[in-house]
Amino acid sequence: MPKERTFVMIKPDGVARKLVGECIKRLEQRGFKLVAIKMQVLTRAKAEEHYIEHKGKDFYESLINFIISGPTIQMVWEGEEAVSQIRAMVGSTNPLEASPGTIRGDFALITQKNVIHASDSIQSAEREIALYFLPEEIVEYSVGDDKWMTSM
Ligand code: CMP
Repeated sequence: MPKERTFVMIKPDGVARKLVGECIKRLEQRGFKLVAIKMQVLTRAKAEEHYIEHKGKDFYESLINFIISGPTIQMVWEGEEAVSQIRAMVGSTNPLEASPGTIRGDFALITQKNVIHASDSIQSAEREIALYFLPEEIVEYSVGDDKWMTSM
């Protein structure tokens, strides 16, 4: 059975504050495997497609302007229950409600500038991965700790 995958994006504040390594370190040390990564300044069209479910909300325009304001990192991570477990590691959307020990709970205070995005469901993960990556940009490979991080 293919391993569960999720989409993670480090936002402009996370890149500017040099939190990329910290975010990757946390996901790696938990046992998740990085299978795709790229860096880009999002176009407005791409940002609007990503955040289409928020269109019409009062924070939507501001969210789009923020997310295209600087470089972002896109990643696909793989592992056991990757979607729900990585959401838990990211923490609540409002960093003031995020538990200490989560990325937002440790590094953010402002809802818009909350460092990182992670897919909220398997369906969202599939949609978001396809939005940013071609199938051939996702790398299948084995690493030494696969044996310890899966139930096989
Ligand atoms: P994210 O996980 O990327 O999903 C949608 C984003 O919209 C969210 O993180 C926040 O950055 C932003 N967002 C959600 N609610 C609000 C809000 N009330 N005010 C400002 N930004 C918000």
